[in-house]
Amino acid sequence: MSMQRSLILGTGAYLPARTLTNNDLAAMVDTSDEWIRERTGIEERHIAADGEFTSDLATAAAREAIENAGLTVGDIDLIVVATTTPDQTFPATATTVQHKLGMKQGAAFDVQAVCSGFLFALATADSMLRQNLFTTALVIGAETFTRILDWSDRSTCVLFGDGAGAVVLQTGTGEADEGVIAHHVRTDGSKKDLLYVDGGVSSTGTIGHVRMQGNQVFRHAITNISSAVRAVLADTGHDINDIDWFVPHQANQRILDGVARKLGLDEDKVISTVALHGNTSAASIPLALHTAIKDGRIKKGDLVLSEAMGGGFSWGASLFRL
Ligand code: UT7
Repeated sequence: MSMQRSLILGTGAYLPARTLTNNDLAAMVDTSDEWIRERTGIEERHIAADGEFTSDLATAAAREAIENAGLTVGDIDLIVVATTTPDQTFPATATTVQHKLGMKQGAAFDVQAVCSGFLFALATADSMLRQNLFTTALVIGAETFTRILDWSDRSTCVLFGDGAGAVVLQTGTGEADEGVIAHHVRTDGSKKDLLYVDGGVSSTGTIGHVRMQGNQVFRHAITNISSAVRAVLADTGHDINDIDWFVPHQANQRILDGVARKLGLDEDKVISTVALHGNTSAASIPLALHTAIKDGRIKKGDLVLSEAMGGGFSWGASLFRL
């Protein structure tokens, strides 16, 4: 039976030009290329240039997504930006993106769910489109995450990078199994102290730096992600074997492997960009999705499963068909 759906029309991405290798980091803190590769799978990450802001990364990704969707800026009436590293405390980075795109119509706002932000933004935009509040949405994950790193803390500074990815959603008529199909998003505020930033507008008046008890986060990540994925599959009546591609949040290759193993997913179906991007927080899923569409692996009609876990704790899973 055909029904109103949020259809995925196009994707885009942007990575800053400068890269930082593991060996570059080994010259800064007591670490090694071998440790970082073995424990995380990361080889290098991109770093935004001085004067290059989250909104610049987001705008570049958005332009490519709009072009790939075969639309123009005039068609967009909603922008949701998932970011932990906004240009300013306010206004929302999304309104800056709106302005940089030259977009006069519609509405734009940010969503903050750290590394799970893109899935929360996707669920938000999909809900608003289904309620006919808007017709065509840009859902963007964009981060200059390296700006909140403590470059003397080897347990966190080797993990993250900067980047942006964007998806264009448009309301249309489709089958129940087309476009954005289902979401499962959850948080648990009691785990806040395991992954947080030690600063903020209303607490310290400073930006702060990322603090993480990595091994604790790792343990919770595999459990929470697997339960979110199972919930999404149960909601939709899909089996893990129906999935064409798995596009997870890119935090650590060991988490990707662990989740795939736990879910019984074939490793050939896992899209991994963590080696070259590091963990780009809210940007990692749309960046990985665009990478695999661009290189021809993910094609129109493919069923894609996505998941994420991050600070909050926040976590979730989404199922969509391209
Ligand atoms: O996207 C948001 C969610 N975040 C995540 O999902 C991250 C989840 N966590 C992880 O990915 C991993 O826990 C890490 C990659 C952060 C760390 O790997 P681990 O295998 O859990 O290592 P660990 O934290 O248990 O530390 C093991 C050892 C420690 O030394 P001792 O105490 O055994 O002597 C650390 O001090 O590794 C040491 N270590 C390092 N050594 C070299 C920690 N960071 C480094 C480093 N280089 N960069």
